[in-house]
Amino acid sequence: MRIVVVGGAGTIGTAVVELISARHDVVVAGRRPGDVQVDISSRDSVRSMYRRIGSFDALACAAGEAHFGPFETATEEELALGVHSKLLGQMRLVLLGRSLISEGGSFTLMSGYIVDDPIPEATSFAVANGGVEGFVRAAALNMERRVRINAVSPGMAQDSYEQFGPFNPGRAPVPMPEIASAFQRSIEGWRTGEIIRAW
Ligand SMILES: NC(=O)c1ccc[n+]([C@@H]2O[C@H](COP(=O)([O-])OP(=O)(O)OC[C@H]3O[C@@H](n4cnc5c(N)ncnc54)[C@H](OP(=O)(O)O)[C@@H]3O)[C@@H](O)[C@H]2O)c1
Repeated sequence: MRIVVVGGAGTIGTAVVELISARHDVVVAGRRPGDVQVDISSRDSVRSMYRRIGSFDALACAAGEAHFGPFETATEEELALGVHSKLLGQMRLVLLGRSLISEGGSFTLMSGYIVDDPIPEATSFAVANGGVEGFVRAAALNMERRVRINAVSPGMAQDSYEQFGPFNPGRAPVPMPEIASAFQRSIEGWRTGEIIRAW
């Protein structure tokens, strides 16, 4: 399969690319120079990415920002970062890519454990993740040409433990291959409309 991994140079994206590139033709997309540059918060940038990529069989997204910081002082703009980047950015990948993906192809989006087990500094992530999961469940009912859509909800990644461990007391980090395998289940499997938890 020809598989686009948006955010494929990031912490989780790298693990996904490592796992699937042995069997598939992988195109890494992201903000820094890679195979294809894209900013998912811009409609024009996503359109231009699809023009450059041409045909593809699956798209997995491990990109999207949200605000991390104290709720007490958070502004509307900061809390909305998750909506504009992580939620709308991923929805945009589906809306602009759904007519271009192969018949029977799949979209795999990214949510995260924080919507089920929130931590105080990450309200913007919780809001975005809840939106992504709702979108996936609803969009799956409407996808045409047997196109599937799922979300992977990772726990705290092993490679992010140093950064996020102090904010997650008692939470065991999830090994990177376990998170990558959740993406593989979505891409190579049969599920649709599901939230595949890796935690
Ligand atoms: N790490 C965890 O423990 C964990 C757990 C649960 C959920 N998640 C979710 O997983 C996602 C990825 O996390 P991560 O830890 O892998 O982050 P990361 O290491 O910062 O990687 C994110 C990747 O996405 C790209 N990216 C960010 N914003 C983008 C945009 N607007 N357009 C295109 N590419 C963009 C980045 O590119 P540049 O570097 O070029 O900016 C980078 O390659 C996030 O949505 C996060 O909420 C992470």
